[in-house]
Amino acid sequence: MNRFRLPAAVALLGTTLLVTGTVAQPASASVSATAHSPAPLRVLADRAGVRIGTAVDMTALAEDTTYRRTTAREFNSVTAENVMKWESVEPRRGVYDWKKADELVRFARAHGQVVRGHTLVWHSQLPSWLTAGVADGSIDAEELRGILRKHITTEVKRYKGRIQQWDVVNEVFEEDGSLRNSIWLQQLGPSYIADAFRWAHAADPKARLFLNDYNVEGVNAKSTAYYELAKRLRAEGVPVQGFGIQGHLAIQYGFPGQVAENLARFEALGMGTAFTEVDVRMILPADETKLATQASYFRRLLDACLGARSCTSFTVWGYSDKYSWVPGVFAGQGAATLMDEEFARKPAYGTVREGLAEGR
Ligand code: G3I
Repeated sequence: MNRFRLPAAVALLGTTLLVTGTVAQPASASVSATAHSPAPLRVLADRAGVRIGTAVDMTALAEDTTYRRTTAREFNSVTAENVMKWESVEPRRGVYDWKKADELVRFARAHGQVVRGHTLVWHSQLPSWLTAGVADGSIDAEELRGILRKHITTEVKRYKGRIQQWDVVNEVFEEDGSLRNSIWLQQLGPSYIADAFRWAHAADPKARLFLNDYNVEGVNAKSTAYYELAKRLRAEGVPVQGFGIQGHLAIQYGFPGQVAENLARFEALGMGTAFTEVDVRMILPADETKLATQASYFRRLLDACLGARSCTSFTVWGYSDKYSWVPGVFAGQGAATLMDEEFARKPAYGTVREGLAEGR
């Protein structure tokens, strides 16, 4: 297992950090750390012809210099973790707030990064004016369809030419492959999916438009439902161009089966593919064995991406445990990202780096 020097930003913290089970050089010993550091992930990714991305927490980006510097240094693609979601951009009906989303797009441009747009149609993080209006019947189905069309058109147009891939619909299937019983399905019926893609395409014909979900890494009932949907939509001429595999794994559940086969079948439809939200959680506390298993999971997902011509980006859902969503949602679990809370690189960082260095 490789040992990595501390990046200058981390060295400044002056902490002694555990890296890959060994004690890393203390800050004072890491003179010229930047000059002699191994190439950042994005440099290796460029060589491999793949995007390496991260979800970005806009509060951390504003307040944490190490986070800001590392986000710029390591990644050539960024996704808004929350600030492009509907509740963020239109908290009150007709009142838009693009400040933080604009900030991310500006940051990306300044650092030569592409942006993945996340996400246009979802059952979660909807503004309360919308959910309340549907619940009390003051917004009927016809009006809701118009509201959805306006939302998609407004947001996609705003960032026209600046978003490489949009997650147009997010998490629309249940685990058994039936359509999720969301307000979209209840009010508009299944045709809302095709409509969403058509509206997004009309607003920015060059953006690559994705389906996106979790628990669809391997071949299973849910990923097969996506495969059938994508096949049907493409046969009908609906502009759906990509399948986003979130990649939220947990070592206690094992590694999913038939990941390469899954990517291959979407590729055979002419679809692009991407890993869009990768993290690998564990039951805390972390130890050397769990971190090694985690590292191998990251590597296996990356290898599946690098092994598929259609897979053009590999995005992690945050890269430091300091800002991961996992502990807040799964009690007693965490340590899910490439770096610990002090930004020290974990074994998973090493395996991702090695995988990118080996290339396709
Ligand atoms: O911004 C408010 C803040 O004003 C308030 O004080 C605070 C109190 O709880 O909440 C803040 O909002 C939180 C938001 O993250 C921003 O931090 C929400 O409560 C919280 O629910 C929200 O969680 C996000 C979650 O999506 C929402 O379902 C996570 O950060 C985000 O990582 C997660 O991302 C999703 C993807 O979009 C889709 N795939 C799964 C993935 C993980 O759940």
